[in-house]
Amino acid sequence: MIVRAAVGLCVLAIALQVAAYDVVREYSGNTFFDRWDFYGSWDNLTLGDVWWQDRATAMSTGLAYVNEAGSAIMKVDNTTNVPFNDKRNSIRITTQDFYGVGSLWIVDITHIPYGCSVWPAFWTKGPTWPDNGEIDIIEGINLNTNNQYALHTTGGCFKDASAIQTGATGVTDCSQPSGCVVQETGRNSYREGFAAAGGGVWATQFDVAGIFIWFWSRPNIPASILQATSTSPIDVSDFGVPSASYPVSRCNIPQYFTAQQIVFDITLCGNWAGIPSLYQAQCLNQGPTGTCYQDNVVGSGSPKYDEAYFEVKYLRAYTTGAPAPTPASGGIASGSSLVATFASVPEPTIIPTSLPGGINTSPNGSSAGLITADVWKGIILASTVGIGLVLVLLIL
Ligand SMILES: *[C@@H]1O[C@H](CO)[C@@H](O)[C@H](O)[C@H]1NC(C)=O
Ligand SMILES: *[C@@H]1O[C@H](CO)[C@@H](O)[C@H](O)[C@H]1NC(C)=O
Ligand SMILES: *[C@@H]1O[C@H](CO)[C@@H](O)[C@H](O)[C@H]1NC(C)=O
Repeated sequence: MIVRAAVGLCVLAIALQVAAYDVVREYSGNTFFDRWDFYGSWDNLTLGDVWWQDRATAMSTGLAYVNEAGSAIMKVDNTTNVPFNDKRNSIRITTQDFYGVGSLWIVDITHIPYGCSVWPAFWTKGPTWPDNGEIDIIEGINLNTNNQYALHTTGGCFKDASAIQTGATGVTDCSQPSGCVVQETGRNSYREGFAAAGGGVWATQFDVAGIFIWFWSRPNIPASILQATSTSPIDVSDFGVPSASYPVSRCNIPQYFTAQQIVFDITLCGNWAGIPSLYQAQCLNQGPTGTCYQDNVVGSGSPKYDEAYFEVKYLRAYTTGAPAPTPASGGIASGSSLVATFASVPEPTIIPTSLPGGINTSPNGSSAGLITADVWKGIILASTVGIGLVLVLLIL
């Protein structure tokens, strides 16, 4: 009997443990850059005036490195005199791993690139754009004062404008060129204010119930994140109301998003920061021509690009680690029943019904290539729960 009770408690403990997210990978310190690919081409994607360096050149020219504080620096070249018709060197890195639905990403940053012509982003993408979805977590241009969130998808995915959040909803159709946009309204989410406050933290929950993004300036970071270590599980229940909420009510997440790679990049001008009307509204007097390229990219890099760098303390990827339901039945069906819960409760409690997240070395989403450890965890958990139930019945 004692043995049975002990086994029962064990089962309970395991089941409770699953109600938190587990770390699957941390990018930090001297190993920060180990599992990323460096782009190694000019910006042929957003048509910015930069050459994104390959790994070896980025490291040897000091555009990517780990500083004395142990933070990762990614920056625009501010030491080269760029002649007319040339591009300026910068960084774009993409994780080698893919993270499935059921993931949580937490990034702690102390400096974000900013200034006229500067367009930084921290975001995620699938292998094919926009078919596999895109989540923009940090993005801004020129002299914007607030961070901006967006999803990009194929037609049929919308931002539910009635969802509980603190940010301001813009375009709601995620297939529009801008994506479906939410403006951060909290203080110090970008530029000098962000840096002066000591930076801050973003958390992004990528779930069958929706995509939810939180921002906290340094003084407001919740205890769960302050106390988290590189290996400890994390409970999201003290996160509060998200800045941006994209619940499943108007966008079926697993339909529009496959497993995602995480990207940091900095471009200059290009097809957002460089649009003449947008550029000139904020930066017309930056130089003699009023054009983004000539008044910024060309010529001396300093002081114009002295603030054009990311400084990142860590990026952690978490997974629910829940046993794997098949994507078609379990995940989507339970997702829709969660909407009602979420509409009345600002803090989503969605972990037990989530699809497994976790690392994927193939771009094909959660049904293919989940790391073996997670699969085993699922099998062990499922069978332990099964045995536990039988034992509990026997005890009763
Ligand atoms: C961008 O350049 C890379 C490297 O040359 C190439 O592999 C890729 O196909 C290009 N992408 C586009 C959209 O042109
Ligand atoms: C480039 O910017 C960094 C800060 O990002 C600054 O410390 C450095 O002095 C600048 N380089 C030059 C040549 O001014
Ligand atoms: C992804 O799935 C498709 C279709 O099932 C398959 O053809 C392709 O080989 C898969 N790719 C990888 C990298 O597993």
